[in-house]
This record gives sequence, structure tokens and C-alpha cells, in this order.
Amino acid sequence: MTDMWGDAVDASQIANGPAAVPAARGPQTVTRGQRTRGADAEGDAYLTVSDLSVAFPTADGIVHAVQGLSYSLPLGKTLAVVGESGSGKSVSSMAIMGLHDPKSTRMTGSIRVGGREIIGLSQQELRKHRGGSSAMIFQDPQSSLHPFFTVGNQIMEAYQAHNNASKRQARQRAIDLLGRVGIPNAARRLDDYPHQFSGGMRQRVMIAMALVNDPKLLIADEPTTALDVTVQAQILDLIQDLQQDFGSAVLFITHDLGVVAEIADDVLVMYGGRAVEHGAVASILGSPLHPYTWGLLESIPAVSGEPTRLHPIPGSPPSLLSLPTGCSFNPRCEFRTRVPDGLCEKELPDLAARTGDASRASRCHLVHPDEMFQSEILPRLP
Ligand SMILES: Nc1ncnc2c1ncn2[C@@H]1O[C@H](COP(=O)(O)OP(=O)(O)O)[C@@H](O)[C@H]1O
Ligand code: SF4
Ligand SMILES: [Mg+2]
Repeated sequence: MTDMWGDAVDASQIANGPAAVPAARGPQTVTRGQRTRGADAEGDAYLTVSDLSVAFPTADGIVHAVQGLSYSLPLGKTLAVVGESGSGKSVSSMAIMGLHDPKSTRMTGSIRVGGREIIGLSQQELRKHRGGSSAMIFQDPQSSLHPFFTVGNQIMEAYQAHNNASKRQARQRAIDLLGRVGIPNAARRLDDYPHQFSGGMRQRVMIAMALVNDPKLLIADEPTTALDVTVQAQILDLIQDLQQDFGSAVLFITHDLGVVAEIADDVLVMYGGRAVEHGAVASILGSPLHPYTWGLLESIPAVSGEPTRLHPIPGSPPSLLSLPTGCSFNPRCEFRTRVPDGLCEKELPDLAARTGDASRASRCHLVHPDEMFQSEILPRLP
């Protein structure tokens, strides 16, 4: 049998896994105060990504999927990573989980999770990392749930792969988790197969499986995109509740700024494999500094879920085989003419503080983007 990552599970993994967690222990409830103290006790960041680059050599050339990406995330906080399709969101988060094939991937930089460097770990060490201290939920539950095994079997196996637990203890743990994610009649549903659940319920099963080992880092990669608006809202609430209970660090990937407003503490905006803006959610949604973020803000879906692209960003995302010279966004940016000497076409801007506020950074040559946002963009937002 395989675990949720498709890795074969062997007895040595169980024997060498992290210290056993009593099976009867369900998710622990932690108050916000306790959580904050916990985060402080751990130091500032649980996840630290430093100058991460991920490239894939292909027949057409080298795909530079992620370049020079740096950010950090403390326990108890949610960082939303946003950007159009193909901006490197999934590739960067899969790197954190150690999911790239080392034979076909070039990776440089550093990824530290709980103080431990992930880049360069062996496949056996990565298997312990995945589904243990860190877990990931995907847009498509099929990528985590095996169709031929009951959901109970799969959750129990994920638990037993990381804990020295009996079958009975693992079964109880699976029932607790399914109940916790809101699956009615959890004890009975344990013996059902994935196809016997609706889309939203399957997503909950996947979340239960991701949480079975109390991960301190949870990566959610567009977990609600395929679901209808009501179920989407329920799943978002669930992830937020679970984060409060577990005190985990959550990396939430989405292309939808409406979702960001609900769930994030901080936001990282990616374009063409690079971070172009980074800051607290209130700054990014209330007074963003980068023209690409302005474009995203102008295309927030309405509450009904119907996209209302009042001012769509012209053109399409760049090819990661050959990014434009200078600022990658320049071919689509209506503000490049405001920067003198054609600098936007010549020089890649640094990701740097632009307004004297060191907690927010933007990768753009504009000199007073804050004033430009207030006078030109804000009035035309929906
Ligand atoms: N294994 C791979 N080999 C070559 N290119 C890849 C591979 N995985 C992803 N890519 C490319 O990397 C880019 C970034 O992908 P991804 O991170 O999945 O984007 P998104 O922001 O939509 O999650 C895309 O252009 C994608 O085609
Ligand atoms: S650097 Fe120039 S092209 Fe790039 S976002 Fe800023 S103004 Fe636009
Ligand atoms: Mg993706």
C-alpha cells in the first residue's frame, strides 16, 4: 500500500517515525493567547524560504518556475500566495514538501521547516517530513486519495506511518478526525470508498488525512477552486477553525483575492515565478503598491461568485522559458511609461520597501506608487 503521497509505506518508517502520539488524543484546543505564546517560543518563523529557485530543464529550454523567492511564516499565521495560473505557486509549495523529482529538477536556496533544512534531504527523510510535521491539501482530492482503498484505511495508514499506534488506536484517530472535519456518521463512513463521497465531503476527507498527524505546517493549494461557492465557504471556515485548534502555520495558495481577504494574515503576490509584492493583508488589499496587484484587485469576483473583470489585465502571463527583460510585468503594465529612460524594459526591480514601511515590499520602479494607487486606482475599483 502507499501513503497519501503515493510513497510506499514500510515497517522501518513506522519504527523510526517521530515520537508516538497517543491515539486517543484528538485535536487539541489551543486558545489564541496560548497560540501566540507558542509561536513566540518557537522563534519568529516556523517556515523560512530563502532565495529559493526551482528550474526544470526541458526539451524546449529551462523553465524557470521559481526565482529568488524568500518569505517566512510563523506558527498560528496564514500566508496567502496569490497570482495567476503558472506564476510558480504550486511549484514553490511542492518544493517545501520535497515533492520534486531530484532527477528532473534544479533547486537552489534554502527551505527551513521547524529549523530543519529540507533541500538535500534523502527520499526516506522526505517521507517522514511529508504527512508528519508538514501536510498539503490539493485542489483535487483524487491526487491524495487512492480510489481502491476505503478512506478509513488511508487515514489509518497515514497515521500509522508516523506513529507507533495499533490498528484500533489508528481507527479511533480516523473516526475522531472525520468527525472533526464535519463528516456525519464518521464511524460508519470510515469503510466507504472515496467515490462514495460528494466533492465537498471528499475535500473534507483529504483535510482529515492531512491533519491526522497534527502538522505544524499546512499547505492548502487552491483547495476550494473546484467547489461551488457554498461548499467553498464551508471549507474555508473549516481550515480557519482547524488552524485555531491546531495552532499551525498555514500557507494558502489561491488566485482569488476575495478568499485572501477572509483567510490571510499576510499576502505574497507572485508573477512569473517571482515575488512582486509582500505585506500584511490590510496593506495588500487596502493600499497595494504594485501595478500587477492593482490589476488583480480590479478582478476580484463578486460575492455571487461570478467573475466581474471590470478592468482585466491585458495580455497573458509570460513564458517561464524566456521572461521579458527588465520587469517581467512590463509588456502588460500600463504604468511603465511613467518610469523614465525605459528602465522597466531594462532593469529588474528589487523586491524592496517603497514607502518607509519595512514590513511591506514591492518589486517596481515607480517612485510614489502609494499616491498613484490612491488617486488613480482606488476610484476605479468595483
Ligand atoms: N515538472 C515540470 N516540468 C516543467 N515545467 C513545469 C513542471 N512543473 C511545473 N512546470 C511549469 O512551471 C510553471 C509554474 O507552475 P505552477 O507552480 O504549477 O503554477 P501555479 O502558479 O499555477 O501553481 C508553469 O509554467 C508550469 O508549466
Ligand atoms: S517596474 Fe515598471 S513595468 Fe514593472 S510593474 Fe513597475 S511600472 Fe510596471
Ligand atoms: Mg497551482
